[in-house]
Amino acid sequence: MSSGTISKFFYPNSVAVVGASRDPSKVGYQLLYNLISKYKGRVYPINPHVSEVLGLKAYPRITSVPDDIDLAVISVPASTVPSVMEDCGLKGVKNVIVISAGFKELGTVEGIEGERKIVEIAKKFGMRVIGPNCMGVYVPKIGLNTTFLNPDRMDFPEHGNISFISQSGAFGIAVLDWAAMRGIGISKFVSLGNKCDVDESDMLDYLVGDEDTQVITMYIEGVEVGRRFIKSLKSTTPVKPVVILKAGRSEEGVRAIASHTGSLAGADIVYDAAFKQCGVLRAYGMDELFDMALSLSLQPPAQGMRVGILTVGGGSGVMATDAAVSLGLKVPKLSDATVGKLRNVLLPIASPYNPVDVTGSARNEHLLNAVDIMMRSGEVDVIIWIPYFMAPGITDELVEDFVSVVRSVNKELSTPIPVVGAATGGRHTLKLSTAVEKGGIPMYPTVERAAKAAWALCKYGQWLKSKGTFDDYLSRFSKFT
Ligand code: COA
Repeated sequence: MSSGTISKFFYPNSVAVVGASRDPSKVGYQLLYNLISKYKGRVYPINPHVSEVLGLKAYPRITSVPDDIDLAVISVPASTVPSVMEDCGLKGVKNVIVISAGFKELGTVEGIEGERKIVEIAKKFGMRVIGPNCMGVYVPKIGLNTTFLNPDRMDFPEHGNISFISQSGAFGIAVLDWAAMRGIGISKFVSLGNKCDVDESDMLDYLVGDEDTQVITMYIEGVEVGRRFIKSLKSTTPVKPVVILKAGRSEEGVRAIASHTGSLAGADIVYDAAFKQCGVLRAYGMDELFDMALSLSLQPPAQGMRVGILTVGGGSGVMATDAAVSLGLKVPKLSDATVGKLRNVLLPIASPYNPVDVTGSARNEHLLNAVDIMMRSGEVDVIIWIPYFMAPGITDELVEDFVSVVRSVNKELSTPIPVVGAATGGRHTLKLSTAVEKGGIPMYPTVERAAKAAWALCKYGQWLKSKGTFDDYLSRFSKFT
């Protein structure tokens, strides 16, 4: 099937909801409710038993709608889906999302046969299908939301530059809710479900050229078209970072996958090798997935593996060093010249080596001067800064001033130095960390997580260099340079 119409899943001018229920406790009602909350395109509820749903005129069949329809979202019981698909085909709809469960994931003859019919009908009419057994898409930029979760009990994130493709609908939705709370913006969310047609390769091929997507994240269980997936990954990663959380690492996990989406997961070692070969950054949990995505979305890649650590607390500096080294990064000693420069601007009790420990007596200017010197030294490729916002000499002004120093130094450097932060603490720390992050420097609650985020910048930079696309990526990544 051609991939020419994938964009209509994300930017349809009109959407029909087949199975738009009048019952607020049903999936089809909530889906329509979420869709019309923000989406400004035309929406057509389809339900043979009602004339109106949520104030919109309803049509008995999709074929009765007088206008063109770009996208049909199907939420009727599995047994009815094939006939609805036929109707969609007759209507000339080219993009279909099947929310309904009850197909291959059941492992039954009926389920498998039902899914086969969906594919057959889609092929006959040249339609592209997302699902079945999925949540569909969420595109905040145009308010498109085909998920059916109760918005009184969850939040949806704002528009941002991270796209998230999930094989699990429930996990995907939980991530959206969490991302909204964490302040992470999403460009496109797609729940792929059973992937009877559209799969992660289609998504990569589309998102690599999507101007609104800076970083591609994925939760996957099993990928059935291995070769094609590798090809898509290979053409995407020199252009955009791809961070993947692959579940089913244990034998037991593989068994669980079979009964979830019916995918064949295969040996984890094969995925691991493929990811390495294709420059994928592998995450081992949700935190890592978005920690890395956030640093890649906010900061430029690093040109080497050398980490500079700038801390207010000695212990955190040691832990950050351990974390960085255990990830394969280097924490080099600074040259005598740089140490001398640092001595000139820091307190006599400060430690001007790497980690650079400004001590608990530090004032804002000590951190500002130190980061300036470290960034210009040419001796580190990425900086992890560890402010203690509760230190007596540190004021709230540090937030704005630090962001501004990092920005202005990077403007002067030929290759920018990415900066990530770790601030462990409570309410006040969280408030200021959030403010720093709004300024474009990602902040993490532990040094270990900050180290992994820094690692992602180094690893991706290394990959871009090996592909000869580092400079090209940097020139597109204009935010911090
Ligand atoms: N065309 C349009 N509407 C139709 C229809 C047709 N051919 N046949 C029935 N409908 C209407 C029904 O009348 C009903 O509306 P009403 O409540 O106003 O009467 C509505 O469509 C839904 O049909 P119903 O039979 O009540 O189904 P349901 O809402 O109980 O369940 C699903 C349908 C799809 C939600 C359910 O089968 C399902 O798959 N649930 C799981 C979804 C899921 O978890 N997906 C994966 C997420 S990761």
